Amino acid sequence: MPKKVKLAPAFEEALKFCRPYVVAPKDHLRFLDLKPLGVEVTGNLQIDPTRLDSQRFLTWIERLDAQTFGPQAMAMPRWVFYDCAEWPSALFGLAARPEDLSLSLRERFEVAPRDKVWVPLSLHVAIPTVKPGEFFEHNVGSLGSEAGLKGLGTFTKALGVRLLKAQSLVGAAQWGSRALGMHQRFGPLELLTVFTPAHSYPRSLTYRHDCSLETLSRVVSGEAAPTLDATHRVKTDDASLIALQRKLERGKTAVLAGPLFEKAQGLYAPIRVQG
Ligand SMILES: CC(C)(COP(=O)(O)OP(=O)(O)OC[C@H]1O[C@@H](n2cnc3c(N)ncnc32)[C@H](O)[C@@H]1OP(=O)(O)O)[C@@H](O)C(=O)NCCC(=O)NCCS
Repeated sequence: MPKKVKLAPAFEEALKFCRPYVVAPKDHLRFLDLKPLGVEVTGNLQIDPTRLDSQRFLTWIERLDAQTFGPQAMAMPRWVFYDCAEWPSALFGLAARPEDLSLSLRERFEVAPRDKVWVPLSLHVAIPTVKPGEFFEHNVGSLGSEAGLKGLGTFTKALGVRLLKAQSLVGAAQWGSRALGMHQRFGPLELLTVFTPAHSYPRSLTYRHDCSLETLSRVVSGEAAPTLDATHRVKTDDASLIALQRKLERGKTAVLAGPLFEKAQGLYAPIRVQG
């Protein structure tokens, strides 16, 4: 495996200000890749949630999540981070120095410009499933756009899945959400559901993509994901999505073939349906 893969200029830029961090019990660190894609997580940013001195950093994580997921009413209580992320898996992200943050961000994190601390700007959580090598991605959050950093969410996700040594990733996203474009950089995305009543937002899809070194290297090099020829252009309203969901339940397979597009007062998804 190459020691360091080629990084897109936007990600080289991010590393001028950011350092990777991990939150996991100390004994779990040996199971992780602490130098994902050549970007090393140094000892001072290996945060052990079982220790009292992790408290301030974990409060910042909670605030970061509230600022990214809060507006969608999906912010996580602190115990969910502990029970569902930091213990069963590892929480990963990128952190910056207060002096490199805007006044507004410093106020929200309650830090002074000269504080010699690292404040989390992005986070990624994926939990192992019972299927060996497959993880469920349940949180990607980034304040990169507020810090003037392009693609911080994408970069964090790529490093986070590599840290966990995930072979494939499943997750849920809402049709038309900003996050979907980020996930599509890792695609093409296999669609396991297109309408999901099990989720709080039924108009969610369940995606899967591989996390091979080849895929992650392509993503961090800034290269776009390959697109496929679509067989259907599906309107992302309940009726059309439920109709396609029924086809999936009858055994068809579907892949999101490219970016969503607006047409005739609706948002459409190019989808390749097979089987
Ligand atoms: C979704 C989210 C994580 C995206 O984070 P982000 O830091 O904005 O990062 P992205 O990777 O999406 O990239 C942002 C921009 O950088 C661009 N970008 C990505 N990779 C790039 C690269 N290598 N070079 C240049 N630009 C790049 C993207 O195209 C995008 O451009 P745009 O703003 O013009 O559309 C963030 O908006 C967020 O926290 N949202 C709320 C929580 C949420 O919905 N999370 C996902 C749930 S699964």
